Amino acid sequence: MVQPIRVAVTGAAGQIGYSLLFRIASGEMLGPNQPVILQLLELPVAMNALEGVAMELTDCGYPLLHGIEMADSPMQAFENADVVMLVGSKPRGPGMERADLIRENGPIFVGQGKAIDAVASADAKVVVVGNPCNTNCLIAAAQASRVPLANFTAMTRLDHNRSVGQIAEKSNSTAAEVRNMLIWGNHSPTMVPDYSRATVGGQPVADALPSDWLHSEFDTTVRTRGKAIINARGKSSAASAANAAINHIHDWFLGTGSNDYVSMAVPSDGSYGVPEGLIYSFPCRITAPWTYEIVQGLELNDDLQARIQRSADELSQERETVAELL
Ligand code: NAD
Ligand code: LMR
Repeated sequence: MVQPIRVAVTGAAGQIGYSLLFRIASGEMLGPNQPVILQLLELPVAMNALEGVAMELTDCGYPLLHGIEMADSPMQAFENADVVMLVGSKPRGPGMERADLIRENGPIFVGQGKAIDAVASADAKVVVVGNPCNTNCLIAAAQASRVPLANFTAMTRLDHNRSVGQIAEKSNSTAAEVRNMLIWGNHSPTMVPDYSRATVGGQPVADALPSDWLHSEFDTTVRTRGKAIINARGKSSAASAANAAINHIHDWFLGTGSNDYVSMAVPSDGSYGVPEGLIYSFPCRITAPWTYEIVQGLELNDDLQARIQRSADELSQERETVAELL
């Protein structure tokens, strides 16, 4: 029998949690033959709500769901976890930037990083969703020297998917026809949506779509989509965020498929001039379970290079802001 994978999820009774857990339990994240045990973390005030979510999970009768554990302490929730999905934290409201959350959310990732170090599997794979996710990931990783640094990642897959969605819509294609889109940098307005190697229906995106639209509307829409959703919904994205988290872990485990790479924020090794150690979104190729390589040698024009540098500068600044948490 295939051993269950233990998946810890924080903020499990929140908006994203409610879209995420059912898809993990159904097999969408780790594949149709992989049993899972869910280890759910919430704040004490939200434990009642979490009990309700757990009841609903049970009521789905998922064949792959081999257990549900609930806890209000990370030391309990992360015990022997193979995958840790750090979602629980405050979302921003209208008029805020994600970076405005750092003072409030940053400290959460100190305690959770320490708990990963103390009790999770020594090879636990971590994705940080809670904002500002790149720098929160840096904070968590800094506490957990027992787990390899490369195992700490943050989610820019939502931005990646948003760019695919925009290109598909504009070209009257399906998302499946769009390949090799890429997001560089921070999950913030300085992110760099890079379509220079992307294709739609086999044709370069740069030939298929008007360049003024690509330079202006497309670029701005992708970079500011989170804010647009908050303005429209009154709450930040949830189902699409959960979907991106599923995609991130799915591809990390099962591979990049027909794309040459996907966008993942991972610890920089100095590639493309990004300072070492920053959690930066790069083109990542996955050819074996739970590994990735930063794709090397992509040609960048001066404009892309400058923007990639600007997003790295912003992350260096965030790293200085949280220096006491590292
Ligand atoms: P939410 O408020 O609906 O849910 C958050 C949940 O986390 C709540 O149930 C809360 O009780 C819980 N929580 C708070 N602090 C916790 C802690 N210390 N330990 C455990 N649980 C804790 O928020 P949401 O909409 O689910 O968003 C969660 C986070 O994800 C926010 O920071 C949001 O900005 C971020 N987000 C990131 C992306 C991305 O692309 N990276 C996309 C969407 C949202
Ligand atoms: C998003 O991109 O939708 C999330 O990061 C939420 C936000 O604050 O924008």
